[in-house]
Amino acid sequence: MNKKKPKKKNVSKKINRVKKTKKLQAKKINKNKKEKEKEEKEEKEEEEIKEIKLEETDEEMEKREKEETKAKKGKIRWQTLRGMRDILPEEWRYWDYFLTRAEKLAESYGFERIETPILEEAALYERSTGASSDIIRKQMYSFRDKSGTPIALRPEITPSIARAYIEKGLFNRPQPVKFFYFGPNFRYERPQAGRYRQFYQFGLEILGSNEPISDAELIVFAKVLLETLGIKPFFYINSLGCSECREIYRKKIIKFLKGKRRQLCPDCQRRYRENPLRVLDCKNSRCQNILSVVPQFVNSLCPNCHEHFIEVLEYLDAANVSREINSYLVRGLDYYTNTVFEFFPAPKDKNDPALEIMGQMVPALGGGGRYNNLIKSFSGRDVPALGLSFGVDRIIEELKANHIPLPRGKKPVVFLAQIGKKARRQCLPLFETLRINDIKCAMNLAKESLKTQLEQADNLGVRFALILGSQEVQDETIIVRNMISGVQEHIPQNKLISYLKTTLR
Ligand code: HAM
Repeated sequence: MNKKKPKKKNVSKKINRVKKTKKLQAKKINKNKKEKEKEEKEEKEEEEIKEIKLEETDEEMEKREKEETKAKKGKIRWQTLRGMRDILPEEWRYWDYFLTRAEKLAESYGFERIETPILEEAALYERSTGASSDIIRKQMYSFRDKSGTPIALRPEITPSIARAYIEKGLFNRPQPVKFFYFGPNFRYERPQAGRYRQFYQFGLEILGSNEPISDAELIVFAKVLLETLGIKPFFYINSLGCSECREIYRKKIIKFLKGKRRQLCPDCQRRYRENPLRVLDCKNSRCQNILSVVPQFVNSLCPNCHEHFIEVLEYLDAANVSREINSYLVRGLDYYTNTVFEFFPAPKDKNDPALEIMGQMVPALGGGGRYNNLIKSFSGRDVPALGLSFGVDRIIEELKANHIPLPRGKKPVVFLAQIGKKARRQCLPLFETLRINDIKCAMNLAKESLKTQLEQADNLGVRFALILGSQEVQDETIIVRNMISGVQEHIPQNKLISYLKTTLR
């Protein structure tokens, strides 16, 4: 009996094992089936994508064929698209100068970095920047993606911030939230000095504050940043009021322009029908003449908006910001309410008429304002907000035009030269040791000739060339050549750092 018991146990164990194996097999089959289905689905999607054919006009086909022939002959010369450019290292030094200061200042004012995608649904911009604005009507790069969704390369960043605020529930954080960002934007404009089709903005947004001091905070930030960079700014400011004061002003301006419609430029005749406020922003001299006696917006503000604007001005005066109320400033984007502003390099000559600046002879370095209704129009939540964006390309041009001296980076003090394969193999670890010990070192591992390497060391103006040949590798030494006297010494490699630290002091 005693002997039979374990047998029974063994049988039930065996059955369990078989059951388990079957279960595992079924699981595996199921998994394989699912994977196969997934693969089939992916293959089908890929096929569908391949089937979406780009329609090509005869002209495009001819151009493509010509380019293919050129490419076969190795003659093709690629160029950047019109209005787009490369930022080469010598130019990047200016961008770096701007960015390090802008980011540091933003952080010290309590702004946090935010990054949003460059592509968004085209409707996001249509519903915020404004379907009747020039940016959306003429300048937005929009197209359908492979799934047929209408998308756009961002023409500005503010709508994405508003979207992220709602989508990510940022209204649940202590308010207001303060963000800063930097990145490229795309507008299909006619390229000219200071105007590109890909341009960069550094911007700030404050969501969840209706306090006039927040408006002043942004403008003071712009003043401080530009002055830190060496640019003296000048601000134009206006108030567009709330929806109620805007309606009152809209009626006033329609009445004012009614008899003069035919004298307006064709664009303004359309603006008159779609959004009469935009006429104020026109740069055409004929329209500007007509507008010289236009009623002022500030006279149509309701008591609340009037008080808000006065408070902003008082805060700016207290902070010593040089500004001018400009009733022609309406900004080219639909979402603005209350305070709007733009800033320019201060006129060099005090007699420069202000309108010459607004006439866009001098492009704006940046601009911004309140958009108290935008979040509400997206989500129903009543969240007042405001922001500004700096046009970084233009600020860089201003820095160059003013010959602002850039701080010099740390120059290399030694040059590591190598002769032969064995020496070259030791260069990267040796370079790391120098770098960790804060000894700025240059080298050119792509060159074999010692003469070329020493010429480069000479051009860089380093104090010492460190020369490593196969003999030195074997002896575990290195030649230290004084680049001024030409005197050379053999130093044991394990003493190199202490030797350099003492002599370079
Ligand atoms: P914006 O006035 O359209 O406002 O652009 C801000 C700045 O970007 C301009 O003042 C200018 O310096 C620069 N900019 C615009 N277009 C170009 C271009 N084609 N080439 C070079 N620079 C250009 C906005 O974009 C709003 N999102 C600002 C804002 C933020 N409002 C509230 N928050």
